[in-house]
This record gives sequence, structure tokens and C-alpha cells, in this order.
Amino acid sequence: MPGITAQPSLKLINVKELHPTFGAEISGIDFSKPVDDDVFQEVLAAITKYGVCVFRQAGLDDERHVEFARKFGELDDVTPYIAGGRAHRLPYFELFDVGNIDLDGSIFAIDNVRRDWNKGNSLFHVDSSFNPRRAGYSLLRAHELPPKGTGGNTEYADTRTAFEELPEDLKAELLSNDYIAAHSLWHSRKVAAPETFKDINPDDYPYSRHKLVQIHEPSGRMNLYVAAHVHHIEGLPDEKSKELFNKLYEHCKQPKYVLSVEWEKDGDLILWDNTCVMHRATGGSFEGKFKRDMRRATVHDGSSTAWGFNEKSDKRQGLP
Ligand code: OGA
Ligand code: MN
Repeated sequence: MPGITAQPSLKLINVKELHPTFGAEISGIDFSKPVDDDVFQEVLAAITKYGVCVFRQAGLDDERHVEFARKFGELDDVTPYIAGGRAHRLPYFELFDVGNIDLDGSIFAIDNVRRDWNKGNSLFHVDSSFNPRRAGYSLLRAHELPPKGTGGNTEYADTRTAFEELPEDLKAELLSNDYIAAHSLWHSRKVAAPETFKDINPDDYPYSRHKLVQIHEPSGRMNLYVAAHVHHIEGLPDEKSKELFNKLYEHCKQPKYVLSVEWEKDGDLILWDNTCVMHRATGGSFEGKFKRDMRRATVHDGSSTAWGFNEKSDKRQGLP
């Protein structure tokens, strides 16, 4: 395939495939010290091929989590949210707080507004496509997990394979029209928690614009860049836009394209590439009862399509 990155042999790390088309568990890395460059090159080859890499009990602390993430590129951080008035529970601005714990250490109550914010994570999405600069890699670490068997898996959808397996006529239509999708955080929050966000109109905020079908540069494969954040597809009447988006989104969410990863132990780390997979949080009986303290480092996309069709700016959606 033109443009495909040659796959270096993986000699220094062990790979266990988790699904017929994507996802792998990687072992053999000593995370107690900075990861060597030759090992890191193999991790890059693995994430390029698999889209999702699970590292069991990597055991990173906050500092080493940020340090490891920095090897992948420039990191996003929460400073704009703090400037907008939101307090941060974690010691590093480069760690996004995606757990269920309040500033006082208590577990989100059922009527907690931040819980409603997080509900959007339970819809299949990619990180930060609603910002002018989208995310490339995400590194999510289980700092403290709820008891085993109480839920909270993270699920992934293989959007490269989903694109490849679309009916040929639909693929041709998408490629010839080269659609741009308009993404909005407010839209996905509203879909997930309609009551809380009933007075929000996504049209009152800028959309971030990304091609619907685009090349995943590291692998040379095409990717269907869909997500719950997609509000509409530009240039199409409302009904047609909804219909096409739903068709593509539902196609990608089919069980055959989905991998469900169970978090086994504190210290587990999952790396994924938002430009070739979607992901979502799943609930469970832990909700409202047990802590699920999850911390995410987010790497800005370094590819040539990172900014999509957006003005280069630091503006973020979701303030405060
Ligand atoms: C995220 C996210 C899912 C989860 O960190 O971006 O969507 O299972 N997390 O916590
Ligand atoms: Mn996410």
C-alpha cells in the first residue's frame, strides 16, 4: 500500500493481539526507568499497527506518566479550563481528570454536574476533535480502580477497518465528496445528558472542522473520523447529514469492530491513537459507590491534518 510505514520487527517488546483487526497487549517494557529510544520506536510501530496498546501494571506515577507521554509529542493541558474557573484535582496540568472523584475526595453523587459532563465519554468518541487542534495519542492510566467485576471497561472501535469494509458505492461517494464534519463538545454533552444541557445550543459556539474520511498518516490506511462530537456534515441538508452520519457511526459501532478492555489492576495503562480508533467509557455497579480514579495524558496530533480546517488557536470548548 503506498505510504505505509514499514513494520519494524518487534524484538524488544512482546505483543499479544486482542482482536482480529486491532488492539494488542504489550509486555516486556521496564517502566521503572525512562523508556529507551529503541524500545520506544517499537511502541510507535505497535500503536501504528494496532491503534490500541494495553500495558498491564506499568505502574507509572503522575510524573513518569507525563514524562512517558511527552515522548509521543507535544502535550495538551488543562490550563485554559483552570483559567475559565475550574479547579484541578491532580498535581499536573498535563493530566486530565477523567475519574469520578470530586475535589474533596468524595465519589460523584448521582446529581453531580461533572458526572453529567463525563456522561459524554460513554458515547463512542475521539478526544478533542471539538477543539481547533485535535488529539493524536491518549494515554489513560488507572490510578485507582473500583473492585473487579463492578464494570468500567473501556471500549474501542476500529474505524480504519470499518472504513475499508463499507459498501464500495458508499466508500466511493465519501471519497468523491470529501466531506467535512463539524464537531462540537456541546453537542455530545447534550446528546448524553439532555436535561442538564437543555439550554445549550451548539450553534452558539464555533465548530471544529475535520475531514470525515482521511488518511492515517503513520499507517497509510484510510480512516473514518467519526465521533459523538459530530454535529453535522457540511454542505448537506439537515436530514441527509443526520442520516449519513448515523449510518457511518452505527456501522463503526458494530460488535465486530469493537474491543472491550477490562482494567485489571491499578497501574494499568492504555495508549490509543484517536486518529484511527474511537473509544468510550462503560458504566457499571461501581458508579456512585466506588472510586474510579483515571488520569489521561493527551498528545496533540502531530500529523499534517492535525488542525483540520480550523484556525490555529488555543481556544478550547467546554469552558469553564
Ligand atoms: C478518556 C475517556 C474512557 C474511560 O479518557 O478520554 O474517554 O473509560 N475515558 O474512562
Ligand atoms: Mn475520551
